[in-house]
Amino acid sequence: MPHPLIDKFQRAGQGQVFDFFQLLSPEAQRRLLEEAAEIDLAEVERLTHTLLRPGATEGIDLDGLAPAPYERRPENGGDAAAWSLAKTAGEAALRAGSVAAFTVAGGQGTRLGYDGPKGTFLVTPVKRKPLFQVFAEKILAAGRRYGRPLHWFIMTSHANHAATEEFFAEHHFFGLERPRVHFFRQGRMPAVTLDGKILLETTGSIALSPDGHGGSLRALDRSGALDLMKREGIDTLSYFQVDNPLVRCIDPAFIGWHIMRQSEMSSKMVPKAYAEEKVGHFCTQRGKTIVVEYSDLPMAMQREKVASDQLRYLAGSIAIHLLDREFVRRMAEGGEGVALPFHRAEKKIPTVDAAGRPVKPETANGVKFEMFVFDALPAAKNPVVIETLRVDDFSPVKNAAGVDSPQTCRDDQMRQFARWLRANGVALETDATGKPRLTLEVAPLFGYDEDSFADAWKKLSPPPAIVDALYLA
Ligand code: UTP
Repeated sequence: MPHPLIDKFQRAGQGQVFDFFQLLSPEAQRRLLEEAAEIDLAEVERLTHTLLRPGATEGIDLDGLAPAPYERRPENGGDAAAWSLAKTAGEAALRAGSVAAFTVAGGQGTRLGYDGPKGTFLVTPVKRKPLFQVFAEKILAAGRRYGRPLHWFIMTSHANHAATEEFFAEHHFFGLERPRVHFFRQGRMPAVTLDGKILLETTGSIALSPDGHGGSLRALDRSGALDLMKREGIDTLSYFQVDNPLVRCIDPAFIGWHIMRQSEMSSKMVPKAYAEEKVGHFCTQRGKTIVVEYSDLPMAMQREKVASDQLRYLAGSIAIHLLDREFVRRMAEGGEGVALPFHRAEKKIPTVDAAGRPVKPETANGVKFEMFVFDALPAAKNPVVIETLRVDDFSPVKNAAGVDSPQTCRDDQMRQFARWLRANGVALETDATGKPRLTLEVAPLFGYDEDSFADAWKKLSPPPAIVDALYLA
């Protein structure tokens, strides 16, 4: 049966997508055509010619690469007065309502191996709150502190959109005002064979997967989120990942640096824990700020030291950014030198054989294309990188066990709560790593950072006894 879309795929050399079309029910045929319509064949063709050509994976251009400058924290020699001005400026922006929170939650979370949207994963040490609840309470608390409730944008994927919305509805939006929480789906890209042929996942569906966290820029635009921001007087998005409950998702000093410097995209760095740590590196090249992934930076450079025995490429990226609304629009609209590049990742992609039988490959049989949000940095005017403390901003849940796992994250949350308590005069016993001997948890609505915790703690009279499973709310 001729169909203009099928013709188009055939002319592009992608006719295999419809190999089993005649065997599908009318409903399944309709769904396959719908998926096919999502695909930009010219884009796939371009990516095949650039990213799949021989030699495409051979290293990046290292010419003129240098470590990016960053604003040191006051305790590490930074300018205390400038940090204090930044905090004041950020607080003013929060009181004016010009900042919104933005979570990217469209990933597949394969490493964690958890069934369901990652944001629904239970993460806190005592109450076992889900990730989404932790962020919701931080956002609610910040809105109360600055007298302006915040908007929260959440990017989902096709696979988890409905489940995410249901989860929020079931939990009454964790106390947030429903009209201020906005969900939108990110785009998808087809997986292709190593020679560029679009893969089927089943006889009636294409192997489509989310287009990377960098897809958030075009999804923000397409979904109308940028227009909504404009109507609401919101200029700045506070971008963070769904797997990091430690993040100070509303951080006045960070916001202040961004505003004072008229930055279009700002980022937080942490000093790398060790030379080989698998993080992106903030660098400069030909006057631009860029992030170079650990896999692209030669090991000798990752290990290079400066005089004081400090790593030369010290600044690690932890995927926390501030984005200017009109900058996002400019990036989303694309155009010469502005659109985000795609990266390729070879993966084992479940597919079908010539007879339509399911195949679960043992080795990589195809390539997925993804965009990364940090690739927007070189296009941003006045980008700022500020230093943050890992212990106050970064403990992601990536793996089921070992590093960056639910266990390490719970421990890091408790270390933070213990530090806050000790800073307020509580004699709390901890081990050498600062982990308390007791299990405890602080609700973000009680305190979500040092300042808000101190304010709330001072109001407790008498303060509660420090016992196991203490929950401060
Ligand atoms: P990761 O790079 O950790 O990927 O995402 P992931 O898909 O969550 O996990 P793995 O690699 O399959 O185990 C970092 C952040 O970017 C979001 C994720 O939801 C997470 O918050 N992300 C990633 C998206 O929103 N969309 C994507 O396409 C990819």
